Amino acid sequence: MTAATVNQADARQREAATTIPVYGQLPFVPAHAEGCEIVTTDGRHILDLYGGHAVAALGYGHPRLVAAIREQAESLLFQSNAVALDIRASAAEKLVSVAPAALERVFFVNSGAEANENALRMACKVTQRRKVLAISHGFHGRTAAAGAVTWKSDKWYGFPQKPFDVDFIPRDDCGAAEAMIGPDIAAVIVEPVQGVAGAFDLSAEFLLTLRGSTERHGALLIADEVQSGMGRCGEYFAVQAHGIDPDLITSAKSLGGGVPCAAVLSRADVAGQFGPGDLGTTFGGGPLAAAAISAVIDTIDDEGLLANVRSMEALVRERCVLGPVTRIQGKGLLLGLVCNRPAGDVRDALLEQGILTGTSADPNVLRILAPLVLKDEHVDHLARALAAIPGGDA
Ligand SMILES: Cc1ncc(COP(=O)(O)O)c(C=O)c1O
Repeated sequence: MTAATVNQADARQREAATTIPVYGQLPFVPAHAEGCEIVTTDGRHILDLYGGHAVAALGYGHPRLVAAIREQAESLLFQSNAVALDIRASAAEKLVSVAPAALERVFFVNSGAEANENALRMACKVTQRRKVLAISHGFHGRTAAAGAVTWKSDKWYGFPQKPFDVDFIPRDDCGAAEAMIGPDIAAVIVEPVQGVAGAFDLSAEFLLTLRGSTERHGALLIADEVQSGMGRCGEYFAVQAHGIDPDLITSAKSLGGGVPCAAVLSRADVAGQFGPGDLGTTFGGGPLAAAAISAVIDTIDDEGLLANVRSMEALVRERCVLGPVTRIQGKGLLLGLVCNRPAGDVRDALLEQGILTGTSADPNVLRILAPLVLKDEHVDHLARALAAIPGGDA
C-alpha cells in the first residue's frame, strides 16, 4: 500500500468513526482540484462534471475567486448585519442587477434550505394564509418548511408536524394547477428545472400557468433556483428564459462558487412589509460570502459564461446521446442523461474512466452539474467514455 492509499482509507475511516453516517460516499478522496479536474490522494485525475452538487460554478481554484476570498479574509473576515459593509452592498447591487427586473431586494442567508425557509415565511406572513403548494417531484431542502414542501420527504422529515398545510400539484399539469391555486394559498414554490428529480425541465406553459394563477389569487410565486440559478441554465435564473417574474427567487449553491451562502431575492413591495427583527441570521451576508458573490458574478459576465453554458449544452446534446444514453433533458449545464440501464451503474462505469457525474431521484437519469467553465474537450471526453459503456434494454 502506498502512502497515498493509506491516507485515502484514513480519511474515510476517520469520518466514518466521527461523523453521523448519513452520506453514501464516493470511492475517492480529493487532494486538490483545478479547473474542472480533481486530483485524488492516490494520484488519479478525475473530470468533475458534478461540481460538488452544482456549487463549483467557476470550477476549482479560479484565480479571481481565490484572490477575492484571500483579500477579503485579510482585510475583514467577518462582521454581522449589525453594521453596513461596502462589500455586502456591492454583492446585493450586483445580484439585483442580474435578477428579473421586478426583484429589487435581497436578504442574504447561508444555505438553500434557509433561503426557502425564509421565502416561505415571507409568503405566509404577507398573505396571512396557511397553505402552500409545491410541485410533485420537487426538492427544496431539509429544514422544517423546506422539507415540508419537498416531494416524498416523509421518509426523512422527522419533525412531528409541518409548519403549514401543503399539497402537491402534479408537475406539468396546467389544469390541476388552475384548480388547486385559490384564495387560500399563500405561495406556490417551484424549481423551474427540477434538479434532484433528474434535471426535469418543467414546461413553459406550466410555469406561465403558475404565474397567472398565483397572480389572480394573490398568492406568491417562489422560484427555487438554488440549483438552476446563477447561470447554470444559460441565463442568470432559469425563469428568465421564459420571461417569468416570480415574486421571490431563492439562490444558493453556485452563488458563492464554493463559499457557503444563499439569498432570497424579493419584489420591493413584498420586502417592504418586513422591518427590523422580522428576519435575521448571524452569518448571512458576511463579507467573505459577499466577496465571493461579487467575484462569481463579475467572472460570469467578463468570461461570457452564460454563452459558454449554452454552447456546452448544445455540444452535450449533439455528442452524448450514445452508449447507454437515449435522450437528454434539462437546461444549460443542469442536464439529465436518460439511460436505458440504471444510472448508478453508468455513473460507476464513468468514474472508472475518470469522469464524475451524479445520479438523481429518477433511477434512469444521470445528472450533469458541470462547472460553467466547461470546455469542448471535456464534452469530447464524456462522449468517448459513454461510447465505451454498453447500453441496456430498460
Ligand atoms: C432546488 C434545491 N433547493 C434547495 C436545496 C437545499 O439547499 P441546501 O442543501 O444548500 O440547504 C437544494 C439542494 O440540493 C436544491 O437542489
